[in-house]
Amino acid sequence: MRLGGGGATIGFFDSGVGGVSVWHEVVKRLPRYVTLYVADNAHCPYGPRPPEQVQHFSRGIARFLIDRGARLIVVACNTASAAALASLREEFDVPFVGMEPAVKPASQQTETGHIGILATKGTASGDLFRDTSERYAIGATVHIQIGEGLVERVEAGQAYLPETEELLRQYLQPMIDSNVDQVVLGCTHYAFLLPVIRRIVPEGVAVIDPGTAVARQVERVLMSRPAEWIGSEADPAPQQLAARFFASDRPDILAATVEARIGWQPQIDRVAWQDGKLHSL
Ligand code: DGL
Repeated sequence: MRLGGGGATIGFFDSGVGGVSVWHEVVKRLPRYVTLYVADNAHCPYGPRPPEQVQHFSRGIARFLIDRGARLIVVACNTASAAALASLREEFDVPFVGMEPAVKPASQQTETGHIGILATKGTASGDLFRDTSERYAIGATVHIQIGEGLVERVEAGQAYLPETEELLRQYLQPMIDSNVDQVVLGCTHYAFLLPVIRRIVPEGVAVIDPGTAVARQVERVLMSRPAEWIGSEADPAPQQLAARFFASDRPDILAATVEARIGWQPQIDRVAWQDGKLHSL
């Protein structure tokens, strides 16, 4: 479907609103592209679920996005990338851009030799994270902390409550005591906690949110494809961002999250799971 803009349609998905932080980085960089975003908040959080279940949801959402014209899919969720990226690439013909904790830049930038990773259980226990750490964290000690309960708080619009700050302090203090100078956000929901995290970590500790790096990667993948994927500068820029949003629960929260980023409330379509497939309502 062409809503405006030029080039291929880009699909995004996450267990909820977390991936909106990634979506926003991509549309800032590539404003002419049509984007589709699925928030599977009926199943949120993904983090504590078995990987097979997350794979199953990811497959259903990828199919839904491809059926609506997506030619590239951003798995805007570290947990789904950990569980499903490899199988999605095997099963579907479109390119996927996934997320993994930014261990490489953190290891390159650290001066203390200690880096902290805040991630969900699914990401921290996945092969993707283990492989990346083995490959890139050479010479650096990785301090990993599961951010239990944080995704739920972001979804509930409680990012700025004192209880959330307290929880974050409990998670971050041991890293700070271990002398980390890099804190990697290993879950896209945590981007919404950035101002609170910055208040907690000492000055001089870098907090790495991979959203902009992912946007650059999306651009690289598009540019490596045929011309019709890329679109042309002559294509009219859409009047407003050509974006469509879908939620399997609570469209109000998704709408409010997007509005907080871009200044206007998008329309959100409700979708529902039936027999393992995602359907429009
Ligand atoms: N935002 C997701 C991630 O990056 C999902 C977190 C969750 O649902 O537990 O991991």
